[in-house]
Amino acid sequence: MSIRFMWLIGCAIITTGCNETQQPQIRSLNDILNANAKQVERQFNVEQVKRGAYIFQAHCESCHGKNAQGTPDWRTPNADGKFPPPPLDGTAHTWHHSTAVLKNTILKGGPPEVSTMPAWENILTEQQVDDVIVWIKSLWPDKIYATWYQNFEER
Ligand code: HEC
Repeated sequence: MSIRFMWLIGCAIITTGCNETQQPQIRSLNDILNANAKQVERQFNVEQVKRGAYIFQAHCESCHGKNAQGTPDWRTPNADGKFPPPPLDGTAHTWHHSTAVLKNTILKGGPPEVSTMPAWENILTEQQVDDVIVWIKSLWPDKIYATWYQNFEER
């Protein structure tokens, strides 16, 4: 047995030994979310995202902001008791809802007595609403998208 070979075996034993005595790694929630984010690739159709961006620009950005960043103080109701437009970019609660719920909110709007979110069902086609939802999802950070994906098991 050559010296070189024995040296290699020695190293292997030391390495294995070290691993056995290592403390088990406790992953933080952040690590788990990061790992999940890497596993969930977005499979968006680029053309659909572009169509959604145009629809948003034409119909939604006046209230929700150019990058769907919403109103800074969106949690505080206005003097009339209605809430200002929230961010849709993943920093508020849009990602707490399934695609079906988001679609329904956009088609039907909010109850007029408490909300200024218009109903889009007679203005946009369902396809246009689907497109704008994909654009909105494309804005969400990876971690938010991955968490949404795991909650609803859809893309
Ligand atoms: C006149 C202002 C206005 C316009 C224009 C508008 N919204 Fe809204 N939107 C709101 C307000 C205000 C809310 C908050 C909901 C409420 O008060 O009921 C909201 C809520 C939403 C929500 C629910 C958010 C969540 O986190 O649950 C979605 C999704 C949404 N809007 C998408 C759109 C889309 C897509 C368009 C364009 C097609 C659009 N909005 C245009 C005012 C507007």
